[in-house]
Amino acid sequence: MEVVERIEEMTEISKRARLRVGTWGGGGKSVILIPTMGALHEGHAALIEKARSLAGASRQVIVLSVFVNPKQFGVNEDLADYPRTLEADKRIAKAAGVDIFFNPKAEDVYPEGFATKVDIDDSLSKRLCGRTRHGHFTGVATIVTKLFNIIRPDKAVFGLKDYQQLLIIRRINEDLNLEVDIVGVETLRDPDGLAISSRNTYLSDKERRAALVIPKVLDMAVQMFKESGGGGTLKAEAMKEKLLKTIEKEPLVVVEYIELSAPLTLAPVESVVSGTLLAIAVRVGKTRLIDNRILTC
Ligand code: PAF
Repeated sequence: MEVVERIEEMTEISKRARLRVGTWGGGGKSVILIPTMGALHEGHAALIEKARSLAGASRQVIVLSVFVNPKQFGVNEDLADYPRTLEADKRIAKAAGVDIFFNPKAEDVYPEGFATKVDIDDSLSKRLCGRTRHGHFTGVATIVTKLFNIIRPDKAVFGLKDYQQLLIIRRINEDLNLEVDIVGVETLRDPDGLAISSRNTYLSDKERRAALVIPKVLDMAVQMFKESGGGGTLKAEAMKEKLLKTIEKEPLVVVEYIELSAPLTLAPVESVVSGTLLAIAVRVGKTRLIDNRILTC
């Protein structure tokens, strides 16, 4: 695995891999990008595994980027505290089969005078997490567009836990003709059902136990939907009320939102039908956790 910090070097390696010349050349390789903010865990390993499965190992270059993007953190968010575990990240990435570990410096990504934002229409960016995380998706859209332009990947792999992020990235990709094949990967969970996240490391034992109410209500929703027969008779408000009541029994968990939405527009739905997105964000102590489920029978 090669560690690359310089943006120009990353662009050059990627270009050469595609053009069949130089060290990373030799066969018109496809370049697959996994953008991350580091603090790698089994969830990221699953993204890497997915990337490896996308083409024969000898015909692809897997680039994993690690960059804690300041522009996607609000003023009161956890930028300073975000776990930074660079050496462990390198070991995990290498063991999982990453070819290039791209770790650019913030001053190179956003040099003095940097003045561009990739802005997403409110209809996608101000719903769900965007209601409270002002500017978050602009920050995500800006860095992902930059990474796509630096690396020009053929494919890019993202986790479905950040469903709204994935939807927005698909939108940018289409709207700006970036022509990257965007691949979504199912959320990886601990055996007790909690979605694996870098932010889980903030949780105390007590908080972690309390957080299990999240997978619990997601399972409850699936059950309710199945019992309704899936024909649209189940009202979103009724489902939300029941799920909220369950969460409220857990004093350490404060709901930020729990929404039933159309999966492609994120518009709220009145009736729950097959394919409806159930998305949830809560605070457990100081830690913000999100999760989601697409409801099907
Ligand atoms: O999901 C993440 O880790 C980040 O939002 C991403 C996509 C790497 C952009 O900084």
